[in-house]
Amino acid sequence: MHQRSWYTTKQNAGVVFKDNAVIVHGDEYTKDAWTNVTPTVLSKISRQLHLQDRNPIGIIRQLIEGHFHDFKGFNSFSPIVTTRQNFDDLLIPQDHPSRTKSDNYYFNESTVLRAHTSAHQLQGLASGYNKFLISGDVYRRDEIDSSHYPVFHQIEGFAYFEHENKQDTLAAIQADLDNASPIPENIQVIDDTVIHQGNPIQSCHDQQVVELVAAHLKHSINSMICHIFAGEPDLKVRWIEAYFPFTSPSYEVEIFYQGEWLEVLGCGVVQQTLMNRGGRDKAIGWAFGMGLERLAMVLFGIPDIRLFWSEDARFLEQFQPGQISKFKPFSKYPPCIKDISFWLPATGDWHDNNFCETVRGVAGDIVENVKVIDDFTHPKTNRRSLCYRIMYRSMDRNVTNDEINEIQEKVRAAVEQDFDVELREKK
Ligand code: PHE
Repeated sequence: MHQRSWYTTKQNAGVVFKDNAVIVHGDEYTKDAWTNVTPTVLSKISRQLHLQDRNPIGIIRQLIEGHFHDFKGFNSFSPIVTTRQNFDDLLIPQDHPSRTKSDNYYFNESTVLRAHTSAHQLQGLASGYNKFLISGDVYRRDEIDSSHYPVFHQIEGFAYFEHENKQDTLAAIQADLDNASPIPENIQVIDDTVIHQGNPIQSCHDQQVVELVAAHLKHSINSMICHIFAGEPDLKVRWIEAYFPFTSPSYEVEIFYQGEWLEVLGCGVVQQTLMNRGGRDKAIGWAFGMGLERLAMVLFGIPDIRLFWSEDARFLEQFQPGQISKFKPFSKYPPCIKDISFWLPATGDWHDNNFCETVRGVAGDIVENVKVIDDFTHPKTNRRSLCYRIMYRSMDRNVTNDEINEIQEKVRAAVEQDFDVELREKK
């Protein structure tokens, strides 16, 4: 990628882009071939929506902490982590697709914006608390639409039981379960998962213990969901088998709400290797990681993920700490639609995420949606041409066609420069 001039000069609070380094709050990260963080994405790290008690993200975080009241909460770990924390500590293989540059924001080969709160599991283990929650902003390069944004928030839950022998472990988990309140009537739990070869018990574990840990995990999650959706007349929760390198067996949980299945979290019995590395070789535990945006969107009736980032009083002043209330839309301003089409260079891969990143880098949050509307390969020359439709719309003001034309010109120039494409005529 070529370096655009405004990448090296643009700054935002505490962030400086130099030719050879990126500086964030005085910490300097030397650039290398992996560097792909942008000023736009770094401008988000100071926002900490999960700590704002009037932002729906912060309200949901507190609701969950209220449910897990005997868990220690960690909410201020830095989102800048080592690749070791984000991947290696979690036993994610070197060649795993989740490590790619097109999915993550790298400062350099060994430093990345965390892609999940699981990056702090070992820090949680080191804290000595046997039950903890970790919330934070997480970063993944992604497409742009009403429910995808390159920054979102997660909360991680972790509980482990540390005892000398099997009997004591079983007794402790059982006691905890007996203590927990029963799952209310308003929820239907659909769970036909069974532990089997494809989603196995770890060979170092005892089957009876794992089954009880899994029961504890399931009870904890089901009752958390009831708590979040309190008063919902017919709530359905579905457990599905999943795979994560850092848990086994692993599950995903979906919630049926207003006619749709929402995928809300991943979880499982923590890999013993990870427990051992965290200094807890006598313990067995479970972990979950849950996205907050999707839950907040359905609970508060928020139609567009960008709204969480709005600094408009008409958004922020609608919400009260500790309360779920329905969002009252303020007038929707008309969109402005622009197409851009180009011939791709003869060689090299094409990734939508990279394109979206460039668009967002130039235009910012005014971009509501980017989609491919034409993908065509010329039968004779074999050249491939793409056409993207960019929908511009501000959440809080009218945009003029002139203003968008100017932005679109910058987008065209940036796309041409970043990807070495040949722009086609404007439509
Ligand atoms: N970190 C996983 C994700 O972001 C979720 C997860 C957390 C899965 C903890 C298992 C245990 O998808």
